[in-house]
This record gives sequence, C-alpha cells and structure tokens, in this order.
Amino acid sequence: MKLTSLLALSLPVCAALAQPLPESQVRQRAEALLTKMTPGEKIGQLSQLFYGIVPGMKISDDVIRQGKSGSFLMITDAALANRLQHIAVEQSRLHIPLLYGFDVIHGFHTIFPVPLAMAASWDPSLIERVQGLAAHEASAVGVRWTFAPMVDIARDARWGRIVEGAGEDPYLGSKVAAAQVRGFQGPYNGAPDHVLACVKHFAGYGAADGGRDYDSSWVPEDQMWNVYLPPFHAAVEAGSASLMTAYMDLNGVPATANTFLLQQVLHKAWNFRGFVVSDAFSVRDLATHGFAASPEDAAFRAFTAGVDMDMGSMTYSKQLPALLDSGKISKAELDAAVLPLLEAKIRLGLFEHPYVDESRVQTVFNAASTREAAREAGARTAVLLRNEGGVLPLAKTIQRVAVIGPLGETSDLLGSWSLANSHAQAVTVVEGLRAKLGPNARVEAAPGVQISRRYPSFFDLIFGTKPTPKWDAGQARTEFSRAVDLARNSDVTILALGAAQQMSGEAASRSSIDLPGRQEELLEAVTATGKPVVLVLINGRPLNLTGAVAHVPAILEAWYPGVEGGNSIADLLFGDANPGGQLPVTFPRSPGQIPIYYAHTLTHQPDTAAGFTSRYWDEPSSPLYPFGYGLSYTQFAFSNLHTSASTVAKRGKLTVSVDVENTGSRPGDEVVQLYIHQRFGSASRPVRELKGFERVALTAGQKRTVEFELGPEERKYWSSAKHGWVEDASKFDVWAGADSTASLHTEFDVTE
Ligand code: BGC
Repeated sequence: MKLTSLLALSLPVCAALAQPLPESQVRQRAEALLTKMTPGEKIGQLSQLFYGIVPGMKISDDVIRQGKSGSFLMITDAALANRLQHIAVEQSRLHIPLLYGFDVIHGFHTIFPVPLAMAASWDPSLIERVQGLAAHEASAVGVRWTFAPMVDIARDARWGRIVEGAGEDPYLGSKVAAAQVRGFQGPYNGAPDHVLACVKHFAGYGAADGGRDYDSSWVPEDQMWNVYLPPFHAAVEAGSASLMTAYMDLNGVPATANTFLLQQVLHKAWNFRGFVVSDAFSVRDLATHGFAASPEDAAFRAFTAGVDMDMGSMTYSKQLPALLDSGKISKAELDAAVLPLLEAKIRLGLFEHPYVDESRVQTVFNAASTREAAREAGARTAVLLRNEGGVLPLAKTIQRVAVIGPLGETSDLLGSWSLANSHAQAVTVVEGLRAKLGPNARVEAAPGVQISRRYPSFFDLIFGTKPTPKWDAGQARTEFSRAVDLARNSDVTILALGAAQQMSGEAASRSSIDLPGRQEELLEAVTATGKPVVLVLINGRPLNLTGAVAHVPAILEAWYPGVEGGNSIADLLFGDANPGGQLPVTFPRSPGQIPIYYAHTLTHQPDTAAGFTSRYWDEPSSPLYPFGYGLSYTQFAFSNLHTSASTVAKRGKLTVSVDVENTGSRPGDEVVQLYIHQRFGSASRPVRELKGFERVALTAGQKRTVEFELGPEERKYWSSAKHGWVEDASKFDVWAGADSTASLHTEFDVTE
C-alpha cells in the first residue's frame, strides 16, 4: 500500500467542522498561533505557490517543511494533497495546514455549463445548487478554496473572459454572484464539504481596452459604482471569504496596488472581513506596468494597498523580509495580513481535519445525481434564438440525422476552466443524439471544416495539448463536400458550429466575433441543400449571427453546456426539455456595434427618427438579439402591469405586479423581467435598467401573477454630479415582459 493511502486511513478524515466555530474563538486561536510564528513563517503564509504546473517551477518538500508556503494552487489529486498536507502538519514547526486553492469555476470533476450560460438560466437557485455540487467534489480531494465567482461585467464580446462571468448587467450579475457564493460556501464560511469563495477580479477587468485581455480599463466613477462594482458588493454581502485583484490598470493604477479599490471601496465602504489574494504573478507584474520601481517596491505597494497573499510570483517571500527589516513594513502590518489567513484555515477545520479520505473520491465523483444536475443545467441554460415555422422540437421518428460541423464530435463542450476533468467523459452532440434516438435512427457526422486559433493558447502549451493535424487543401475540399452530401442525404441536419474551447476564456480575446474559420460558408452550403437545418451553437461569447439568421430557420445557443452537453442538447432538440434560458448579454448585428448594451443613456439626438440621430448610417443601432431575449416551444403573454401606488415618497417601497400566461400548448418557462427608467434627476440615467426577474414554470394555459418590490435600493444610483449615492424625486417608467425591449408599460412618481 502506498504511503499516502496509509496516511489517509490512519489519520482523521476531512469531515471539517460540523458547526461554525464562534468568531471569538477563531480570533483567539489565530492570535495565539501568531505569537508563536517567526517573521519567515508569517511571510510563508502570505505566499501561494503553483504546484507542478508552471514550467520550470519545482516545489521541494522542504518549502512546506520550513513553512515557506501557506497555500498551493492547481493540486487536484487527493493522494498528492494528503502527502503534502502530511509534511505541513507533521513536519513543519508549527503544524499549520496548507490551504489548497483551485479554479472551480463551473464544476470540478463534473463540469457544468460555463458561467455565462449559467447566467442565461436566470435561475439563482440552480446556480447555487450546481456550485454546491462543485464544492462537494472539490473538497473531496482537499481543495477548500475556489477562485470564483468571477463577476466581471463584460460588454465587449471580443473579450475572451466574457465566458467566465454573468454578462453585461449589474443587477443580474449581482444575483448570480450572491448565488454562487452561497453555493460554494454553503450554510456558513468553513462549512464541511464546501469551499471558500474568492470573488474576482477586482475590479473593472471586463472593461479592457479593445476587449484585449489584460489591457487597461478606463472606467468613470458613475460606471464603476453603478455597473462594475455591484456584483462584487453582492458577493461580499453574501459573505465571500476572499477576493482576488485584477491584472490590469484601472484608470492608470494597477488593480493589484489600487488603494481606491482595496481600501476606499473594499474596506471603508463595504467593511470586507475576508482576505485578499493577488491574481497570478500580478504582484511581480507591478513593475511591468511601469508602476513599481523594483520587485521590492512591487511587494511594498501591493502589500500596503491591502493584498494579503501573493499568488505565484514569490515576490512577497523574496521581498517582505527586507521590507520588514528596514522597518518599511511593521510587524503589526504583517500580523494584520496573516491573521485572516490563519482564521480562514481555522474556520475550515483544517487544523482538526487536514486530510481527505482518498477512498471516497470516486464515489463522490461518480454520483449519478451530479451528472443529472449537469444534464438539467445544460438544458436550462440554452437559449432558443430562432424557430421559424416551428422547426423545433424535432420528431423522434426521424430516421437519418446528419451532424455537420467541427463541434459535433468533440469534447469542447466543456469550456475553459475544466482542468480537473477528463475530457473523455464529455457526451458529444453525436453521442447525445444517438442515445436519444436509439438504434433505429442513423446519426452520422462530418466536421466539414476545421477551426483553429491563429496564435496558440497558453493553456494548450501548459497542458501539452497536441494540435490537431491540419488538413491539406485536397482533404479540406473532400471533407467539405462529404459534409454537404451527408446533409443532402439526411432528413434533418444539426449544424454544430461555434468555437473550440480555447477560443474563449483567459487570453482568448478576438478581433472578430464571426463564426471562426469557414463555418459560415459551410452553413450556407448545407442550407442550400434545401433540407431542414437546425443550428446548434457551442461557444462562449456573443457571435455575429447576421449571416446565419439569413439562412437557418432554427438556432439554439447551447454555449459550452458541460460534460452532459450532448444529452442536454438532444433533450432540447427533441422536446424532452423546453428552452427557457434568456440572453445575459446583447448579441450585436455586427462587431462594429461593440460595445453594445441595453442600459445605455439617451443622447442629444436619440435614435428615434431620421436626421441627426445617434444611429449608424449603414445599419440600425439596435442589436440582433436584445439582452434578456430567448424563445420557447410555447408562447407567453403579459398583461395587467400595475404598481401598488402611483406615488411613493423617497425611501418608500411599492410593489409592481404583472400577469404572465402560457398561451401555447406545452409547459414551459418564462423569465419575467422588470425594467425601470428614471426620467430626470441629478444625472442622466439609462434608458432601462433591470430591477427584478423571476423564472416561472407554467403549464399550458396557466397564468400567474408575479410581484416585484421597488424600493430605494432599486432606485438609488451613484451620481457623478454628487459623487455619491442619491435617490432622486422623479418620474419613473416601468416595463415588464420577456426581454429588455418589453412594451407593457406603467409609471410612478417619487416625491421628496
Ligand atoms: C486568472 C485567475 C485565476 C488564476 C489562477 C489567472 O491567470 O486570471 O482568474 O484564478 O490564474 O489559476
């Protein structure tokens, strides 16, 4: 028997603490431990290291034995986690356990739909549930800290990391952020089978110039407080145990040493009680920004701004000793940074239960209920964009199905940050359709075209992913014709198009948002056969679908739907599930419209008539698909929108109610959305702002009244005229309906 397995048997299992420890006890224990620690041991706790993933970075066991690192990231194997933990707990002077962190972004072993897709579910309870399952799997191998939720608002489809967040809207983004924190952390901070959350990347990362990852963000005060900060605040309010800084400069100051963000906002305005970790290598990179003069200066400025832990760069471990010796950093400041990290380990119960039970891991990983949740999530997150003539759902009696496109038979359904999963487990579109239709139907596939990045992804380089050999010109022609012929000889074609996994995510920005490669050409050739065609999109950002819409009657946006993706897609295409997801982000008509988002303000000459208006002269300024949009196999009607009062005093609340009815013949879900607009005040306000939503399930003919509360929280905003939060006496428009263009309208007044 291996040493590690022996260890797991002979030592207590990681059940963690079944009850939250009283906070006074947590503090006392942490302070008592602190008094025993040498400066070197304290600095070790502030240093997080990558384990075994960064080329050239080899961590020896002595690093742990000597207490030089308090945390590792990227360990996903229970036996390794136990082995290293054993060194920390048994062989280091003070027996302080390691804290393992990992990017559990949308699942650990069982990969769920990507976060942008989860936001498209408009279903906070689903989001909380799947993040709870992800936490359960991660904690089974010893990972007790996730670098999530990622809550960066993104209004630029070129930015690759738009896939990791909840889209463009601060209200939806806040609800999704809080649900994730609740899911990860469970009933309390440190709960067993759960992980600590780490809300990231603080803040404004999604506003990168030109959508280029890591590039600078310039975010005016009004947008900062009203748009980019609210999801962070919601995560902090939900109790996120930690927070990660961002890579870029925010208004000229790197986020990793930004005192406005880390002191004024996080601590002064929000009273954040957790700890702050840098993004990977971002302390070191303060010098790259042209901000810090030297590594020592970088450590000093990040540390004094409020970054407790240095992820990966070893700048703290190398520079803090000298800064301490020279008195530039005091012992009290060092203690203040170490304390919350010790407290986090105490709350998690790592001192009592440092090890995991390796024999339990496979049972946790193989839980059928988790796979079922993934399948359900894949179906609840898809958005039906188009269904002309009711092409969908398809009849299960279909005999010959062609699956055409480069995403038909790949495991790229998982999306970025699926590092702990074996891709072999993903159910492909073809497999899902075969399972659905059984042996009597013929489901055949042909990729037709290949897609690839012009510049490789660093994830491929790190993980040694072999590039697929490129077809030569002859093969490319043959494959293209084979695909079109297959479509011609089939009853229906499912076009599985989109983008390969590494085309979305970190360092995966694009200058174009067209379907990559020759996919649109393939789409045109396949639709020209005259056979019924359904386009299933597997991708992680808004795409330019103007060409596709001109040719294809039915479009299902499946995003990267996760490990059960093929089954979820088959459930949707054949009507065993009814699409109910709605867009968390605007789909432009063309990339020239970027940035485009529904909550813009009116201009000097609004886009309402011909002449000197704000619109383009070559196309409408409206999007192809608006925020909140999504169809169903049934229909819904809204009526009877009213407010509980026509006038309310400032700080007062009123209730808005609206009826929604399923007027079709199938059960289905509709996301009832509430938007408001303030007509005048101390600053111009967006034409519409989402202020309430509820996903409701209705049987055919069923009607429900949905109510929303509109109080000062929903009406207040940060006014750049006042440099503070205001609630104006004003007139408000209210709309309720199925998307951000809803027409059912009422209004109310707010008086002094
Ligand atoms: C990303 C973070 C991530 C970290 C650790 C960085 O490159 O920006 O989002 O949590 O790596 O993997």
